[in-house]
Amino acid sequence: MKISEVLNCSFSAWYPRFKDYTIKSQIIPLPQEFIDYLLADQVVLPEGTLAMSASDSDTEDNRNTENVIDWATEDLLTPVAEPPNFPEFETLLKNTIKRLGGQVFPKLNWSAPKDATWISFDRTLKCTCTSDVYLLLKSSDFISHDLTQPFKHCCDDENLKNETNVKYELVLRKWQELNPAYEFRCFVKDNILIGISQRHNDMYYRFIPENRKEIVSDIQAFFYHIVKDNFPDKNYCFDVYRRCQGKLLLLDFNPFGQVTDGLLYTWEELEGDELFQAEDLQQHVPELRCVESPSGVQSNPYGAYAFPKDFIDISSGDDPSKLVQLLQSKVREQNGECSSDDETTEYEGT
Ligand SMILES: Nc1ncnc2c1ncn2[C@@H]1O[C@H](COP(=O)(O)OP(=O)(O)OP(=O)(O)O)[C@@H](O)[C@H]1O
Ligand SMILES: [Mg+2]
Repeated sequence: MKISEVLNCSFSAWYPRFKDYTIKSQIIPLPQEFIDYLLADQVVLPEGTLAMSASDSDTEDNRNTENVIDWATEDLLTPVAEPPNFPEFETLLKNTIKRLGGQVFPKLNWSAPKDATWISFDRTLKCTCTSDVYLLLKSSDFISHDLTQPFKHCCDDENLKNETNVKYELVLRKWQELNPAYEFRCFVKDNILIGISQRHNDMYYRFIPENRKEIVSDIQAFFYHIVKDNFPDKNYCFDVYRRCQGKLLLLDFNPFGQVTDGLLYTWEELEGDELFQAEDLQQHVPELRCVESPSGVQSNPYGAYAFPKDFIDISSGDDPSKLVQLLQSKVREQNGECSSDDETTEYEGT
């Protein structure tokens, strides 16, 4: 995999060519101070967001009720560092979110913050305001990877990797309710579609094996008519969404190599000769790999990024009693009380 191949998969490189076949999106160049903010250690939301939380919780009810825990206490809301301030960028973001219908999906040049969904209220990447975007981007290792080592797996000279300048961009895409069973990743080697895999391989979707032939034929046609001659490289992967028979939507391009998840293929298979023999070219029908039965599911690839259920219940408000227990234990802790079984019994599932 080469630096040029990675650059050709960055969003602004492919979007203008494939605009008519993908989700409406807006590319916003990232100011350096915003990149610095994303790379800084602390999570401090830009000005405005904390003030809003404070006034939201400062309702009549809260102020007049004794023994109610006050979220607007200084301890909880005083930031540990100066909040950043990007007025122009912020305005651009707000206007773009509005223009795209009020709900957007964020990503940088290559990656979305898929590993950070645990931090959002509905555990998706749906953003309706700028602070949603900031929080997801700041909480994601995939975003840091885009910013710090986009060419890590490239075979080019180390100097070239360090010297190659990347113009960083924030991509906001109109939010779409996508059915994961309709998403596929396609692998192209030497300009030949050598394999297709269901995109979410931690699930069994009966629909896929039942419609295998039609799915393959639609994807093959999409590849030959739309993608093949419009993409500048010979080796790459692309993701598609098959809304219904004959209606496909392009979702993304990814480099052909280890940096991209091969899903139900191994990279040895994809890079080797077994999936495709050149003499088959005329009759070649790519294989579609999918989970064939409920027992064939693989583990969730982002499982390692998941947080304990108690944390999720607390942050989402799904179980208010856990939040109360947590705060009570904090108060006890501050008062010097200590219970030996705090850790194991306080937040146990219901
Ligand atoms: N506009 C959108 N609205 C809602 N969900 C979306 C949207 N675009 C993408 N998704 C969902 O998010 C997933 C990840 O998106 P995308 O492929 O752009 O991220 P990525 O970081 O490039 O992933 P990968 O590293 O696997 O290539 C998609 O598989 C799809 O399910
Ligand atoms: Mg991608």
